[in-house]
Amino acid sequence: MELRELKLAQYRNIAEATLPLDVRFTVIWGENGAGKTNLIEAIYLISTFRSFRTNDQRVLLRAGHREALTSLTAFDPSLGLSSTFEVRIAQNDRSTRKTGSVDGKRVAAAKDFYGRVRAILFTPEDLGMLRGSPSGRRQFLDRVIFAQDRAHIGDIQDYEKTVRSRNKILKSEGGAGAAQQAALLDSYDEGISALGARIWCRRAAVVDAIRPGFLRAFEEIHGPGLAPALDYASGVQLGEGLPARAEVQRLYLEQLQAKRGQDLARGATSVGPHRDDLQFTVFQSPAADFASQGQARALVLAFKIAELRLTRARIGYAPILLLDDVSSELDPSRNAKLFDMLWADAGQCVLTTTSPDFIRLAEGASRRTVEVVGGSLST
Ligand SMILES: Nc1ncnc2c1ncn2[C@@H]1O[C@H](COP(=O)(O)OP(=O)(O)O)[C@@H](O)[C@H]1O
Ligand SMILES: [Mg+2]
Repeated sequence: MELRELKLAQYRNIAEATLPLDVRFTVIWGENGAGKTNLIEAIYLISTFRSFRTNDQRVLLRAGHREALTSLTAFDPSLGLSSTFEVRIAQNDRSTRKTGSVDGKRVAAAKDFYGRVRAILFTPEDLGMLRGSPSGRRQFLDRVIFAQDRAHIGDIQDYEKTVRSRNKILKSEGGAGAAQQAALLDSYDEGISALGARIWCRRAAVVDAIRPGFLRAFEEIHGPGLAPALDYASGVQLGEGLPARAEVQRLYLEQLQAKRGQDLARGATSVGPHRDDLQFTVFQSPAADFASQGQARALVLAFKIAELRLTRARIGYAPILLLDDVSSELDPSRNAKLFDMLWADAGQCVLTTTSPDFIRLAEGASRRTVEVVGGSLST
């Protein structure tokens, strides 16, 4: 799959734009606020049918406009065919809706649109995630899964809603309604354990799948030493190997019931994957405390490289890599390593930067450089 052209109309700060994509590297540069991330976001939107920056679709509409269009033309060399994938965002008096279409034909279900263009996103927030909160790391991990399994998005949303509802009931006065409260909690416990087990299994499986590639990529970037490790840290502790989903579900239910008294006292749910963490360690200590900033960034970089290689091995071609302003955050030697690895491992890559000087691609690398000024492109 080769992506050829992105077209936008009334999207964010971009009135109208056509961005031809290089077969390898498309470098988008411009000042802060020019619209670079908006271009990356539009490609991601077509790939995953959601933004990575907002859940509010209205903000994707250019101010003062009620309809935005984003479309991406792709060529499939194995079929010798081009297709156009389009996402339209339209606002009427009551709501704002997103619709996907392929070659002009509307695709009714989001799940049937999603994932036709495979993309991997890497942002400066990802680089800082090791020092951030567990919830940032869970989101980072969930985004890896979103890129390959649409069902995960719905499960996460349903799960979060169920935990909020359960917390509301936990905080409500039992009193005369104690029996009703207990019955409601029973039903939320069922929901949380079923959804929680699905989430747990996907997260644990993706961490297991990425780990070998992560260790290898880290050694390539950083060299030997540091004894890095990557784990999905969870309240669900079992012996060797990944447990079956039914087993995780049973454990969650058991723990939810055992901790109900405590949860009632705290007014919060203490069991479930919303308590988990993606744990990076070096020499058995949390990387956030132990690793230097450069090492922490190398750990995240290694994770993304491993994700890219794993996805490529699974789908049979390299997904498009979206690198938003990452180079400005890395020191020169890590930047050089990153670009060596991109050259070797990535297929198409769209990079943004405030200065093209940060992007030191190999001599002879096929590239197209595009400047963005106030939402307008010039090549
Ligand atoms: N819905 C919108 N309508 C008009 N402008 C918008 C909208 N959403 C964001 N912007 C503008 O887009 C610009 C940010 O673009 P962004 O792609 O994040 O910049 P950068 O080039 O720094 O990555 C800002 O100037 C912001 O005000
Ligand atoms: Mg930006």
